[in-house]
Amino acid sequence: MSGLDGWAFLADFARMSTFGATAGGGVDRQAGTDADGEVRAWFAELLRTHGFVVHQDAIGNLFGQVELVPGAPYVLFGSHLDSQPLAGRYDGAYGVLAAAHAAVRVLAAHRAAGTLPRYNIAVVDWFNEEGCRFKPSMMGSAVATGKLPLEVALDTTDPAGTTVRGALERLGAAGADSLPEIAAYGEIHIEQGPSMQETGVTIGAVAETWCAYKYEVVVHGEQGHTGSMRMADRRDALLGAAHVITAVNDLIRSFPEETLHTTVSEMYLEPNSPVTIAREVRMLIDLRAETTDELERAFDLLQQRIAAIEEQTRTRVEFLSSSVWSSGPFIDAGVRLVEEAAADLGLTHTRVKTLAGHDATNVKDIVPTVLVFIPSVDGISHNEKEFSTDADMLAGLDVFERVVRGLADGALDVVGS
Ligand code: GLV
Ligand code: MN
Ligand code: MN
Repeated sequence: MSGLDGWAFLADFARMSTFGATAGGGVDRQAGTDADGEVRAWFAELLRTHGFVVHQDAIGNLFGQVELVPGAPYVLFGSHLDSQPLAGRYDGAYGVLAAAHAAVRVLAAHRAAGTLPRYNIAVVDWFNEEGCRFKPSMMGSAVATGKLPLEVALDTTDPAGTTVRGALERLGAAGADSLPEIAAYGEIHIEQGPSMQETGVTIGAVAETWCAYKYEVVVHGEQGHTGSMRMADRRDALLGAAHVITAVNDLIRSFPEETLHTTVSEMYLEPNSPVTIAREVRMLIDLRAETTDELERAFDLLQQRIAAIEEQTRTRVEFLSSSVWSSGPFIDAGVRLVEEAAADLGLTHTRVKTLAGHDATNVKDIVPTVLVFIPSVDGISHNEKEFSTDADMLAGLDVFERVVRGLADGALDVVGS
């Protein structure tokens, strides 16, 4: 036994939650900030204490490796330590710590029994999963899986003009190492929605992911005096943006209930002055659904609405860039592995979908990937009130330990699913 029991996990979780802690009981650890640097340093030390060799790659992914089987590929487990602004303690961080503890337990069990797994074991904190300071989300895993060019990611700027490259260099987080060859990946995360709490289950075996389209949009108007300019002459970018926000929300009326989720989530206004009509509004439109067909239909409808808004408000709406991920299944053998682990432990379980993006969403397109959920109380996430119970965190950890053992023993070395 490694000594890493449930109490040790909860003690580490409490310590981890002090980095970037907010007055409201959450954390604010946006990627590349001091708080992110502090939690990364603490986590690297925790990994070293348990015998991992710690590395960083060029996009700031932080990972620890234990080589039990010389030359064998690795199985990788992790999530992210960065957070949204004024966020909860659980999103991502729970999964990183659970990955480390589960890996340490499995390694200790092999050492105690004198056995060897088929694969070596590594644990990762993916850089900038949240994509709040630097867009897009899931940046570190997107670069690692070849979905986003490294240079494009490094040149990305935050609203203050700081590049990812600059932020990583300032923290000493830009490394020269590469992730090892990976045979499979596992991640555990809070659900971030209410379905598991509603059905009263402890473990979710994620069988599918929704897809997402995110668009960076600029509404162009013309600057003018708020008092003296005739109403008929105005080209108010903020008014155009307001209509776009409403149109984005109205899209859901053309779809069955809860099959399309839409948001305008971010907005910057120029010149943002009390006596000046806005000349430009930059905003982020986020569309999610079960299939890309639905997202395409939603986008077509939105474009029709935007054409009418442009005419009505005398503004011009420009689509600057988009980021996308597809819907699709997780490998069935992995889903069954989670179900069997939960059943063995006497835990209730069900198959669930993820509506949110995760690093597992990127990695599953490259190697067999398992994603496990535990319940979120009242489905709250990206909020300081985000909460999962200690009992659920520990139950998830026990299940994840079995997932780590299974993947390290080659449980996903199957053809197809
Ligand atoms: C990432 O977490 C997302 O859902 O965009
Ligand atoms: Mn997350
Ligand atoms: Mn998140």
